[in-house]
Amino acid sequence: MTHNKNILCIGAGYVGGPTMAMIAHQCPEYRITVVDINARRIDQWNSDTLPIYEPGLEELIRATRGKNLFFSTDIAGGIRENDMIFVSVNTPTKSFGEGAGMAADLQFWEATARQILQYSESPKIVIEKSTLPVKTALAMERILNGTGNDVRFDVLSNPEFMAEGSAIQDLKQPDRVLVGSRENERGLVARRALVDIYLHWVPADKIITSNIWSSELSKLVSNAFLAQRISSINAISALCEATEANVDEVARAVGMDSRIGSKFLRASVGFGGSCFKKDILNLVYLCRNYGLDTVADYWEGVIRINDDQMARFTRTMLKAMFNTLAGKKICLLGFAFKANTGDTRESPAIYIAKNLMAEKAVVVISDPQALRNAAVDLQDAQGQVSYIEDPYAAAAGCHAIAVMTEWDLYRKLDFEKIYKIMLKPAFIFDGRNILDHQRCFDIGFNVYPIGSPPLTRF
Ligand SMILES: NC(=O)c1ccc[n+]([C@@H]2O[C@H](COP(=O)([O-])OP(=O)(O)OC[C@H]3O[C@@H](n4cnc5c(N)ncnc54)[C@H](O)[C@@H]3O)[C@@H](O)[C@H]2O)c1
Repeated sequence: MTHNKNILCIGAGYVGGPTMAMIAHQCPEYRITVVDINARRIDQWNSDTLPIYEPGLEELIRATRGKNLFFSTDIAGGIRENDMIFVSVNTPTKSFGEGAGMAADLQFWEATARQILQYSESPKIVIEKSTLPVKTALAMERILNGTGNDVRFDVLSNPEFMAEGSAIQDLKQPDRVLVGSRENERGLVARRALVDIYLHWVPADKIITSNIWSSELSKLVSNAFLAQRISSINAISALCEATEANVDEVARAVGMDSRIGSKFLRASVGFGGSCFKKDILNLVYLCRNYGLDTVADYWEGVIRINDDQMARFTRTMLKAMFNTLAGKKICLLGFAFKANTGDTRESPAIYIAKNLMAEKAVVVISDPQALRNAAVDLQDAQGQVSYIEDPYAAAAGCHAIAVMTEWDLYRKLDFEKIYKIMLKPAFIFDGRNILDHQRCFDIGFNVYPIGSPPLTRF
């Protein structure tokens, strides 16, 4: 079959794989190739065991792979043969030199730009899918168009707003698609070509366009606002615990104000994931660069509250369990940073597990999708840790359970059975407020929710 558009995506990760699978599915007349420097990842995309878990992803890949969706390590060939190139390589926080711990590390991004330049023989539209600091497109344009050769490049910004755990649904029915471009003639032509792809399945009124810097900034601000909401309710959860108010009741009352809204107002042990912290740090760094220190301090506060929430959680465990965790066996229910993903990047569970091990606790980790990643995250941790997928087997002989991820299966566990096989007094620390606390208390547990008074027998 001949395809009427050839699209390349560089970076076959959590964003590149699912977004390209969706485009391939919705646009059967296009040929999509996804390339990566990581050959193992590409092998996994070409196998029955995909490198990431997302509900609905397997079905999408099965329907498209080998037809109009291809995974390959041939980056040079991919660049040569395709006219639209999405770039979704990783942009982690810089860990060295100027801006270490704050700024985005753009080495993978720039390496990609140089590869595009090296192998291009015809004009290309290059699309930023990765999340980047404002004005990265300018640097990209300078690298690509600065050699004086005849090949012409247009750079667009098309940040990805999908959330892990609901990526396929988010990609299928996005709240909005944002396309930023230069607002000159060439820029508008390139913008149109990208909009045309999304028009295959996204209603026109959900596809918004803007200047390229607004587009780049909107993604950072979007994540900053989402994280800010979590930190806002978590900050209030600390006050609730101190005053015997109940954070769920407060959230309900506050969220019914239509100006505030009820979504994303669930108190928890804290936010994780590869994006929120890194993107806020990136925003903070940008603000400081422009001399906006008060603005930077404001956003940095969102991260401080998150760090404090995780530290408070371990302090609560320590205090509740008679100020010593040494030798005590604690089961972490969940290790992924949220439900419906196996991704553990920046998961609060990493921090909590390390803290517990620093207190010489013995940690048992359970998760339906994330045990492989958990073992990598904790490979250097000092202490005793084991990995057991079955939650009942994991809880057996433990002094305490701490819920780290809001997997649905944990809501439905038989807590009478679990109580019987745990040591007494048995503790539950519900870091996601998903359990029926009164029922667990009635069974015999001492229960510590987030943001409401504990239910204890002492
Ligand atoms: N994960 C999310 O939920 C999410 C959501 C929206 C936006 N983003 C942004 O999208 C970007 C990618 O995120 P991700 O979670 O998919 O990252 P990821 O680490 O899962 O995937 C990135 C991939 O890029 C590959 N890569 C790096 N340099 C390369 C090069 N020079 N050539 C070819 N491949 C290369 C890596 O090997 C890796 O497989 C980041 O900027 C992130 O902030 C992520």
